[in-house]
Amino acid sequence: MQSSITKLFPPGGESVEHQGLYLRQDLRSIVKPGGSPFVYANFIVSLDGRIAVPDPDSKGVALATQITNKRDWRLFQELAVQADVLITSGRYLREYEEGPKQELLQVYDDPAFRDLGEWRRSRGLSDYPAVAVLSRSLDFNVPQPLRDPQRELFVFTTEQSDTGRKTELASQGAQVITAGENGISGKTLVDELQTAGYRFIYSTAGPRILHLLLTGKVLDRLYLTFASRILGGDPFSSIVEGPLLGSPADFKIHSLYFDPQEPDNLGQFYATFDRQEHTPE
Ligand SMILES: NC(=O)c1ccc[n+]([C@@H]2O[C@H](COP(=O)([O-])OP(=O)(O)OC[C@H]3O[C@@H](n4cnc5c(N)ncnc54)[C@H](OP(=O)(O)O)[C@@H]3O)[C@@H](O)[C@H]2O)c1
Repeated sequence: MQSSITKLFPPGGESVEHQGLYLRQDLRSIVKPGGSPFVYANFIVSLDGRIAVPDPDSKGVALATQITNKRDWRLFQELAVQADVLITSGRYLREYEEGPKQELLQVYDDPAFRDLGEWRRSRGLSDYPAVAVLSRSLDFNVPQPLRDPQRELFVFTTEQSDTGRKTELASQGAQVITAGENGISGKTLVDELQTAGYRFIYSTAGPRILHLLLTGKVLDRLYLTFASRILGGDPFSSIVEGPLLGSPADFKIHSLYFDPQEPDNLGQFYATFDRQEHTPE
């Protein structure tokens, strides 16, 4: 299988190995002023800007399996392995109970990712990153892989969430943290994770959680894979959902690669963008 991809930005055009693309970014060497956490998020997007498609089983949306593929998933895992903590949603843990479409919690037994498990061990990191689940409803149970006492699990929720559910999730081993009145504040979330000793925070969640990371001005880097397919579908589901941002979130391109492989040899682009502080005129 052809494994090289072409670097398009910064310009140069050289071929590089697909495997290791994001490991070579060496995120854990990034030092921010004051030692504050480095927060990053990742999406695969269709040409029409969709990350999810209408779900025939519900009124909502589901993962766009028309665009997900092995090569993008490998890079997703290269970002996950470098994290201290993964952010996910209550919705994902509900899906997990029924059989997840994408496995986020038990990864390194898979031969395709065994090298990544070794990558963590050789750096003296815990076997897996901690997990931070964001939820208002608290309508899920702690899944088996996260009941392991070696794995730290945080549930971030709101003042208005059900106290009985908070107690129940705490009894299942979660550290339950109230981080907002009606909705979670991105700033409080990241401050709490920093207090817990975490510096590298990877959001694997969707558009509402990206919105709170943007409004909290805590997102540092955005990874986007552009799959060369148009999907359509109503409701439209993009990387961010929620009210108009008070000021636009500006990003500067950090790198861009073209991969001629999947899906179905159409090729896809891997782009990395760094958040820029918006300077009012
Ligand atoms: N293509 C891609 O790369 C990509 C990436 C990520 C997700 N997706 C897809 O996008 C869809 C949505 O994913 P997602 O559920 O992770 O998306 P999300 O919209 O970021 O998160 C939604 C869930 O997170 C909780 N939540 C969100 N905002 C909150 C707030 N302010 N305060 C408290 N809780 C909050 C809620 O959980 P409760 O309902 O438990 O209250 C809510 O159901 C899925 O179909 C997924 O497969 C695609």
